Amino acid sequence: MPPARAVIRHSRPTIAAEDIAAVGTVLETGQLAQGEHVRQFEDAMAAYLGRRGAVATNSGTSALHLALLALGVGPGDEVLMPSYTCVAVTNAVRYVGATPALADIDPHTYNLDAGDARRRLTAATRAVIVPHMFGLPADMDPLTEWGIPVIEDCAQTLGATYRGRRVGGFGTVSICSFYATKLLTTGEGGMLLSDSDTLVRRARDLRDYDDRADATLRYNYKMTDFQAALGVSQLGRLPQFLARREALAARYEAALRGLPVGLPAQPSDRTRIFYRYVVSVWNAPETSARLLARGVECKSPVGRPLHEYLGADGFRHTETAARTALSLPLYPLLSDDESDTVVRALEATLAEQEDGLPSALSTPS
Ligand SMILES: Cc1ncc(COP(=O)(O)O)c(C=O)c1O
Repeated sequence: MPPARAVIRHSRPTIAAEDIAAVGTVLETGQLAQGEHVRQFEDAMAAYLGRRGAVATNSGTSALHLALLALGVGPGDEVLMPSYTCVAVTNAVRYVGATPALADIDPHTYNLDAGDARRRLTAATRAVIVPHMFGLPADMDPLTEWGIPVIEDCAQTLGATYRGRRVGGFGTVSICSFYATKLLTTGEGGMLLSDSDTLVRRARDLRDYDDRADATLRYNYKMTDFQAALGVSQLGRLPQFLARREALAARYEAALRGLPVGLPAQPSDRTRIFYRYVVSVWNAPETSARLLARGVECKSPVGRPLHEYLGADGFRHTETAARTALSLPLYPLLSDDESDTVVRALEATLAEQEDGLPSALSTPS
């Protein structure tokens, strides 16, 4: 039997000796639960995103939950979000008993379409959750003009700018995720940031249940001190991580320009980073299966569109994205040789698919 071929993974965390040392130092102190390192990580992230306060949590989802609670969102309220994003966003809205309301995306940026979102506002809309998808900032200006609190979701985008300002600094509240394969990781983890002392104080109060005088329903959403030490260590290398991601993206772009695939958008009023390198193809699930057979793991970058979970329709651009968006491997540990292998596998797969298609169908729209 021929030896099994190593698959080029779609995503991998970037852990260096200094990360391991940072975690080890905390483990040796015996102070494992939330403490001084959590506070340091909060301060470092608040400084990075230019926000007054930060509350570290055990996931991005719990940060979203605390953001909604701090804003007073509850039963009878609607929270608007794009249909093309992570299902965790709807879950957080359902935790507080509110109703997720969906809008379509801009087909070029994969982000919330502000015009469509505007049309779907109702008297019950209490907040808008705006994820910056795949590393590209959403169109923030129209969204912040409605007088409705904006929760900016930076789970997939740190370090990018919109009209000269870094994302994470626009929302009434901003949240981050530090899941294993995010731009920087604490294994699992998240953070809520805001310039409002009131919102930060409320979120901090609800994150922990101990030593409280009243019986308000509170949570255990704390981050551990050794996770926070990992976060601080990773944040120090974030510029390096982003630079390596950008270099790989430039390599992909140069190699893929002549192929029948749509390449990532670059609107002139914002700078992007590359959390994902998403191309559009005719049939992403099929292309992905063929690439895996060639030893390259690619993914649909969003699982199922949210409107399908919620039994709704009328989200044309989300449906197109779900069918055509294909995320290629991209992370700091991906080597140049591996990225070349990805390109060759994609070229061969597209050629093979083109052979099997009627000629009128053989280029993506
Ligand atoms: C846009 C977005 N929001 C929220 C989340 C939830 O974060 P977590 O997995 O840390 O709970 C994710 C996770 O992938 C995400 O992509």
